[in-house]
Amino acid sequence: MMAARASLVLKNVTLPDGRVSDISTGGGVVLHVGAGWPCDRMIDCTGLLVLPGATDIHVHMRGGSQSGKEDWQTGSKSALAGGVTLVVDQPNTVPPLTTPELFANRVREAEGRSACHFAINSALTANTDIRRMWGAGAMAFGETFYAPSSYGAIIGTSALERSLIAIRALGGLVTIHAEKVNPVPDNDLAGHDRARPVSGEMESIQTVQMFNRSGCRLHFCHVSSTASVDAVMKASFEVTPHHLFLSYESFSDPADPEGKVNPPLRSEKERKGLWARWDRIDIIASDHAPHTVKEKRARFADAPAGIPGVETMIPLLVAKVLDRTITLPSLIQKTSAGPAALLGIPQAGFNTGDRADFAIYEKVPARIHADNLHYRCGWTPYEGMPAVFPKKVIMDGIVVYHDGEFIRGTPRWFAGKGYRA
Ligand code: NCD
Repeated sequence: MMAARASLVLKNVTLPDGRVSDISTGGGVVLHVGAGWPCDRMIDCTGLLVLPGATDIHVHMRGGSQSGKEDWQTGSKSALAGGVTLVVDQPNTVPPLTTPELFANRVREAEGRSACHFAINSALTANTDIRRMWGAGAMAFGETFYAPSSYGAIIGTSALERSLIAIRALGGLVTIHAEKVNPVPDNDLAGHDRARPVSGEMESIQTVQMFNRSGCRLHFCHVSSTASVDAVMKASFEVTPHHLFLSYESFSDPADPEGKVNPPLRSEKERKGLWARWDRIDIIASDHAPHTVKEKRARFADAPAGIPGVETMIPLLVAKVLDRTITLPSLIQKTSAGPAALLGIPQAGFNTGDRADFAIYEKVPARIHADNLHYRCGWTPYEGMPAVFPKKVIMDGIVVYHDGEFIRGTPRWFAGKGYRA
């Protein structure tokens, strides 16, 4: 019998439960956890933090006519450099992903350019042919705009109600951007919070759950307030890094368009309230929504809403693990295991058979600087904040990022369950 052999062994990995073990990988998966197998390549992880590759279920990779903001090449490299090995792209592209043909083109665009694994969601509007989009390989339906946002075509209540029944029948998942917009002046960050208030977010979360009588699987995007967290009953939800790390009070210019995002940044009190509910949060997702510096230098009222964040999400949170605000297992659950379970895809991790995606961190915080980031738009609202960026990132058992260098891996499309090739 041939001796078992691994292509890559991570040696002396401290597992989330504190045990130290070697992880042998091959064929894209974890082959063995225990004493390392003979291997082609070995990485000693003594003293380092090893996390499974994260899945960011909410990114806007742009591309096409929006390539000035971002495209698959820059966005996916940015993901890898931030410890994210799988991204779920949102369908509010230009044009939005409303037909199987547009969806297939989007998959081809990503296949040709992405450096990391990816999945793609279908738009959900009044006219979406749900069955065909499911067959085309949509991972989920959404984000579904129950309120308007940048590039989001809004769906009405009765169309959403009908769609939930149809998607329930297929066993699909619907992700919802829940908000309400008030006709009040929206000329600065605090005004933006009043124009899209916490009460409106909370009420629309309640409304959508109420008319989801068929029990379709629901997920709420970027929940931004404690009242809204408490309003989620029969659904999962995500919270973004910007709602955890920024408030409208953290900007020296109260009308700084860099902080304009939907749902809005809230007060410091709300921000702290979200941290107090850390254990309740199902998933952390970045809502990576890049816009150019030029667009973000417009007057507040004219600037598009959105904050880039796929590269800084895990690094900001690893810094919070190191300062003991949160635990390592909770971070892994919300950024890797939880997202995989929600999407029904194999998880990255520390068990035999898991996807061999990992990110390796030194336990030393650095400061975030826009110049060091890899996405195209070139700015960050987290300038100067402490963060821990990965030294190495591994995807399918292959080192794809090392100290600022990218090495081509085997990125692939994760199609949804309804996919008919
Ligand atoms: C997003 C964008 O720019 O695509 N903007 C945002 O403020 N979050 C759209 C969205 O997710 O609402």
